[in-house]
Amino acid sequence: MRLSSRLPGLEPNALSASLAKLRAEGREILDLTGSNPTTCGFTYPEAEILASLADPTVLAYDPDARGSATARAAIAAHHGHSLQADDLLLTASTSEAYGLLFKLLADSGDEVLVPSPSYPLFEWLARLEGLVARPVQSYFHDRWHLDLGALEATVTDRTRAVVVVNPNNPTGHFLSQPEWAALTGLCARRGLALLVDEVFADYALEPPPNRLATALADLTPPCPVFVLSGLSKVAILPQVKLGWIAARGPGAAASLEALAFLADQYLSVSASAQAAAPALLALAPALREQVRTRLRTNLAILDSLLMGQAHLSRLPVEGGWSVLLRRPAVDGDQAFAQRLLEFSGVLVHPGSFFDLPGDGHLVLSLLTPPTRFEQGLAALLAALRP
Ligand SMILES: Cc1ncc(COP(=O)(O)O)c(C=O)c1O
Repeated sequence: MRLSSRLPGLEPNALSASLAKLRAEGREILDLTGSNPTTCGFTYPEAEILASLADPTVLAYDPDARGSATARAAIAAHHGHSLQADDLLLTASTSEAYGLLFKLLADSGDEVLVPSPSYPLFEWLARLEGLVARPVQSYFHDRWHLDLGALEATVTDRTRAVVVVNPNNPTGHFLSQPEWAALTGLCARRGLALLVDEVFADYALEPPPNRLATALADLTPPCPVFVLSGLSKVAILPQVKLGWIAARGPGAAASLEALAFLADQYLSVSASAQAAAPALLALAPALREQVRTRLRTNLAILDSLLMGQAHLSRLPVEGGWSVLLRRPAVDGDQAFAQRLLEFSGVLVHPGSFFDLPGDGHLVLSLLTPPTRFEQGLAALLAALRP
């Protein structure tokens, strides 16, 4: 049987293979990469979450391709900025939202511009829709910057859309207000749609004064804007599987109608996730506060351990759940991560996992329980000592 050429080779990378082997041997691993909030020691209001998922309305099948109006109204209220239920379409995840938007906006062989370094799924999400993801490198100079010149130079007559992540994962870069104005202007001029992934927008940490807190603050963007988010980060409930797309700008109503047609072919959002959404969004602020406390606690631990260290420093964290560490690039990040795992039992992500250029970057999750974070960092610093 011949499988689709859209698929990657499915063998695990060297780091994953080592991890699986060590776990099979019963070795204890200090995992500093965990970003699954349900395993990071947060206190969930379990009874309320379970009650929200047991709404009697789920006994009837009454699908709406855009998602239930009640859930959409609650999501619109969560965002504010005059967003209405009619501006939204529900999905089972942000990944599914990308799939629907790529189907909406592009034909096979068309291109989408994606940020780099960033979330490693873009290449595959585009490729699985028959599209080509063209990475555009951001650069770091005191803070991260979108390279608008490089972005415009990458646009071809096959380019249909630009993807940005605000704040970006793992760099934490929030777009600045001037970057937003220039980006939407460029998209309008070149006839492109703009997809803004804001799953981490509620987690601002070390904000520069001119950051774009959310693309939804722009009520009348000059180009079509699609903002993506979901309960996986907004309510730290990835298992509920509820995401959404908010459409703004020229052609938004027609886009939502076409998106509803696409969503109607799948109807993938479960009745229980939709029925629970208003109650889960009401519980979400307290859950997010626990996460924000964790992020700040771990950053403080990190800063105290890095004090006076010559071999390791960190980049500023404008937002999100990750921190980037800089180490001397005396060897490859992948090789370093592998050695650290095998000799010290500490798991970190090499920068290349997120397409950070060159070597000298490690990525840690700030969701890690603080005791484990501190222990893992101490082992990492010991491994770096000459
Ligand atoms: C930038 C970004 N978008 C989307 C997601 C995933 O969201 P979902 O669980 O809704 O697919 C992640 C997960 O880490 C992410 O980093």
